[in-house]
Amino acid sequence: LAKIEIKLSEIPEGKSVTFKWRGKPLFIRHRTAEEIAAEQAVAPSTLRDPQHDNDRVKRPEWLVVLGVCTHLGCVPIANAGDFGGYYCPCHGSHYDASGRIRKGPAPLNLEIPEYEFPEEGLLIVG
Ligand code: FES
Repeated sequence: LAKIEIKLSEIPEGKSVTFKWRGKPLFIRHRTAEEIAAEQAVAPSTLRDPQHDNDRVKRPEWLVVLGVCTHLGCVPIANAGDFGGYYCPCHGSHYDASGRIRKGPAPLNLEIPEYEFPEEGLLIVG
């Protein structure tokens, strides 16, 4: 199955960049210290799809998720919505900077694909 190699130096802190992978959008987000602290502080018990931020990232600075809304599959918009992560304009689902559903009709958090950091500055998804 196809893998994609991403040079992390091309993604500045605070930005979420969209790649195409296996025909789907893939979001790579370089999280700020503020975003990391905010997401780590969220208690999973308050969430619809309860997951701690630590269980969603391998390195706190990097969020790697599919850009496919878990409601009906639209592509969410980065850095939008009430929780500062992603917003799906189709029916109003709000995701946080950990890709977790926080408000709106989507049932699940954004999906996390298989990925690894084989060396400094390099991410391989797939
Ligand atoms: Fe995203 Fe419906 S497809 S809210």
